[in-house]
Amino acid sequence: MIRVGIIGAGYWGPNLIRCFQESAECEVVCICDRDEKKLKQICERFPQVIGTTDDAEVLRRDRIDAVVIATPTKTHYRLAKRALEAGLHTFVEKPLCTRSEECADLIACAEANDRVLFVGHVFLYSAAVAKLKEVVSSGELGEIYYISSTRLNLGPVRHDVNALWDLAPHDTSIILDLMGRSPISVCCSGLAYLDRRIHDVCNMTMQFPDNRIGIVHVSWLDPRKRRVMTVVGSKKMAVYDDIEPIEKIRIYDTGVHAATDASSFGEFLYSYRYGDIYSPRINEGEPLKAEIRSFIDAVAHGKKPKTDGWNGLRVVEVIEAADKSLRDSGGHVPIHRIMPRRPSTADINGVEREPLIVAGAGN
Ligand SMILES: NC(=O)c1ccc[n+]([C@@H]2O[C@H](COP(=O)([O-])OP(=O)(O)OC[C@H]3O[C@@H](n4cnc5c(N)ncnc54)[C@H](O)[C@@H]3O)[C@@H](O)[C@H]2O)c1
Repeated sequence: MIRVGIIGAGYWGPNLIRCFQESAECEVVCICDRDEKKLKQICERFPQVIGTTDDAEVLRRDRIDAVVIATPTKTHYRLAKRALEAGLHTFVEKPLCTRSEECADLIACAEANDRVLFVGHVFLYSAAVAKLKEVVSSGELGEIYYISSTRLNLGPVRHDVNALWDLAPHDTSIILDLMGRSPISVCCSGLAYLDRRIHDVCNMTMQFPDNRIGIVHVSWLDPRKRRVMTVVGSKKMAVYDDIEPIEKIRIYDTGVHAATDASSFGEFLYSYRYGDIYSPRINEGEPLKAEIRSFIDAVAHGKKPKTDGWNGLRVVEVIEAADKSLRDSGGHVPIHRIMPRRPSTADINGVEREPLIVAGAGN
């Protein structure tokens, strides 16, 4: 039985508490929220669990084996570092941290203490995303030209991070998974209306090798909830609509081809193909439960999770560079990837920097 402590019982924490509590292999021992009102509410819902407003009390190693951190983003690094140093397996909600150097430090700390560092990129545990990945990997769509994602809603508005940090980690984690690699560079523009220090709406474009791009549009200032991702390939196109209850993915046998017989005036002729549309069957379970299953497998059986610290770092590298671009008039910012340590190489915190790759210079 894995004894779990959960820090943060705001909007998202109660979902984690419920799913961990429902797992036969876990026991939620304590819950912490520094807001007494929220703590009281959650303790009434889970009366068998110890409640505290002091995170240090949760991190006491003798009481628990693993900690789940569902507090605001800017607190993740401090809490996760203390948890790993206390010898606890650590589940951190997305995004892992707000700086890639902090992520690298947590990875090194987890490795040094032989503990699991897990990041809550929940969409990578969704059956729809797994199906989309299967379709892309099978080559059915052909060569991927670009992936475009939209994540809009009215709220919840954050005070600690902008819409890019809050919402784009979801789309970024999915796009990185589908592309199977990190982008070379990123640019981002956006505007802050409600609080001039915090962007409410952001548009990010990731430049991948081989002339591929990933586009992410996020906003918490939009009248309708929308979560749509489009994958455009050389043969077919796919649309993943997470709000759609049944047909979450549709494959369009649609495309545009340059005709072989270009006109004598040197103009290209294009032919448009409008073929069948089908929706593959998806056995959708609750992604959060699948995510927690993966964490348990890592803690109890040593299985490497797909959303480990490195996966969390790759997403933070992109968002961090996009945030730099956002504050710097939307120019291209190169992604300077942190790489795993190679033996006998001088490094910082157990990691080293990849040589700088300039946009357009290939992989
Ligand atoms: N995976 C997802 O789909 C998803 C969805 C929503 C939020 N999240 C992530 O979950 C995290 C929390 O988001 P939220 O929406 O629940 O935020 P929230 O502000 O609603 O809740 C955070 C809670 O943490 C508490 N808290 C802050 N610092 C604390 C500390 N040191 N000790 C104890 N309690 C502390 C606050 O009192 C608050 O109740 C964020 O990282 C967010 O990005 C993930």
